[in-house]
Amino acid sequence: MSIAVFASGSGSNFQSLVETARREQWPMDISLLICDKPGAKVLERAKNLEVPAYPFNPKSYPSKADYEREVLALLEQYQIQWIVLAGYMRLIGPTLLQAYGGRIVNIHPSLLPAFPGKNAIEQAFHYPVKVSGVTVHFVDEGMDTGPIIAQVPVEIAEEDTIGTFTQKIQQVEHWLYPKVVYDLIIGKVTSPVSLCSAKRDKEGVR
Ligand code: GAR
Repeated sequence: MSIAVFASGSGSNFQSLVETARREQWPMDISLLICDKPGAKVLERAKNLEVPAYPFNPKSYPSKADYEREVLALLEQYQIQWIVLAGYMRLIGPTLLQAYGGRIVNIHPSLLPAFPGKNAIEQAFHYPVKVSGVTVHFVDEGMDTGPIIAQVPVEIAEEDTIGTFTQKIQQVEHWLYPKVVYDLIIGKVTSPVSLCSAKRDKEGVR
């Protein structure tokens, strides 16, 4: 049983997850990187960290379901239990949600439900709000929606520039995400989705 990280960009969260898991000797490996942007920097990080990486070009598939079916086959091959989205800028479709519902988490650089979608750091900085932050949540079919697991506020100080504010957000992301993922894999945090289906199964409701 192991973890797959999905990413589209730089991969700093991917790297912090892999390094923390190794340093802290987690009971589950991060054994796979799925990337939907051929040439993304995260692929270089995966090579340096010796994590198997699979670049996909979703546009080359007839449909999202076809793309996700191929990803799903890989996840099954690697016996993946958890999907961790780390800057994966694509909605998860029904194929993966059906197979992994309640076992997919995402990190987002704002205090959701404020500033969902792309460029959340810039959106908050330019709004301007006084406090933004980082959210980790379970993934559903929406964009940056789904039950919230953890949130940490980050202040936008008078003297902050977009650069210093971005650094503050990233610093929080790099300790918060490994902490939450660890809590999930050891069962300290449980998914409301799987709890619902367990209850439904117990009650024999279809
Ligand atoms: C992170 O800030 C993450 O929160 C954000 O993408 C960045 C990826 O950085 N995710 C989203 O905006 C999801 N809507 P990284 O590639 O350096 O880990």
